[in-house]
Amino acid sequence: MDLTPFLDRESNNPLNQQLIEFFKSNMHNGRIKKGMKLPSKRHLAKKLLISQTTVERAYDQLLAEGYILSKARSGIFADYEELFLIHSDPKTAELPVQDINVLTNEIIDFHYGHVDSSFFPFSAWRKSVVASLDKYSEKLCRPGDVLGEIELRSLITEYLYQSRGVNCDPNQIIIGASTSYLLQMLCHILNTGFKVGFEEPGYPRSREIFELNRKEIIPLPLDSEGLRMDAVKKNIPDLIYVTPSHQYPLGRIMTINRRLELLKWAADNQSYIIEDDYDGEFRYSGQPTPSLQALDRENRVIYLGTFSKSFLPTLRISYMILPQSLLKKATEVTTLFKQTVSSNNQYALAEFILNGEWQKHLNRMRKLYRKKRKIILEAVKNELGDKVNIHGENSGPRILIDVYLELSEQELIQKAENHGVRVYPVSDSYKKGSALKTMSLGFSGVSEEEIKRGIYLLSKSWGIK
Ligand SMILES: Cc1ncc(COP(=O)(O)O)c(C=O)c1O
Repeated sequence: MDLTPFLDRESNNPLNQQLIEFFKSNMHNGRIKKGMKLPSKRHLAKKLLISQTTVERAYDQLLAEGYILSKARSGIFADYEELFLIHSDPKTAELPVQDINVLTNEIIDFHYGHVDSSFFPFSAWRKSVVASLDKYSEKLCRPGDVLGEIELRSLITEYLYQSRGVNCDPNQIIIGASTSYLLQMLCHILNTGFKVGFEEPGYPRSREIFELNRKEIIPLPLDSEGLRMDAVKKNIPDLIYVTPSHQYPLGRIMTINRRLELLKWAADNQSYIIEDDYDGEFRYSGQPTPSLQALDRENRVIYLGTFSKSFLPTLRISYMILPQSLLKKATEVTTLFKQTVSSNNQYALAEFILNGEWQKHLNRMRKLYRKKRKIILEAVKNELGDKVNIHGENSGPRILIDVYLELSEQELIQKAENHGVRVYPVSDSYKKGSALKTMSLGFSGVSEEEIKRGIYLLSKSWGIK
């Protein structure tokens, strides 16, 4: 195994101790499995530019504790007995944490962008793929439409009108392989230097796309109703990027009054609003709020949507709806770039939507996420108690927790990881930085049992229980 322990030479923790901790934690989280050959003392010392004695001390300690064994003339091997944690086994449910560490094999990953494979309709999807190959075989042999296949654009138009009140003609839709790519196109379409008003905190990937295109970013603060209009009026951006139906990352929902105020401001100032409606399908309480695009009477909204959250992130199908006034330029730009999503996948998705499978899947996911959300909220309240503040729980498949512990953000993440749990900070969403230590817990890709176990391990790893 070519292992590279990271050693902190500035730390008060001796190097041999750091090595011991590295090997133990990697055995606990299953990355180093029983029987794996470890680097020789000489090799490791040379690689890390440390003395062989330091490595020897570390290996001796691991040997004494039974983590490794040394075989004459063969080398040093991990000897850590790894048992698989069976989540539903009542015998393991109440084990103290050190035993749970020993049993945990796989990382419980609270990534926001994962989907739960056990609920994905693979069989219906397979049928759609096959049916689309038969149905569209002729069309698949010719260059596709640069805007995206009209069959899919028409279905998206219909779906968005029904579910989000979006008003558009299929010729206003451009399909693309990612939200970032579509924003890149938009920069070419608008093609002048402009100031972008951006939520603070906001979606870092989109912010970076604008920065890459040398646009000036103006961080705009938020309050409980959404984007603060006093900041908008003071800075007068040419373009504003917002996530009104599920603010990224805070999870707030922009109120109807604030939506109308923002639209009026955009109309008065001839500015565009980019509405990123990336997971508007999942809302848990209150009345669904119409999209900004649905409320817009002055053609100021550019609407972005994606199938990454509501269907499959690897499909790479996202879309942008432009006001009529931008279409001429958009056609020039898209002709140059051509279409980035394969026609195959577009036709398969069209077939899937046409057969009613898409709606069925969405309904199933809404129900499932509602259930998982209830489980994670209960688990966090029970296990993490008043050491955290929960927010952002009213929409989308994730919650946020502000953590009130004397541990740095990096320590919180590392300690969790050492216990087999992966959590994500939201600090990269701030351009100016945040005083809070906030962690994102996405629950779309973890099972109900994993949620309970993961939160339990989190409380152990952070020293709460
Ligand atoms: C705020 C936001 N917008 C858009 C997307 C979707 O990106 P894409 O269409 O590239 O998959 C995501 C996915 O995580 C997101 O968080």
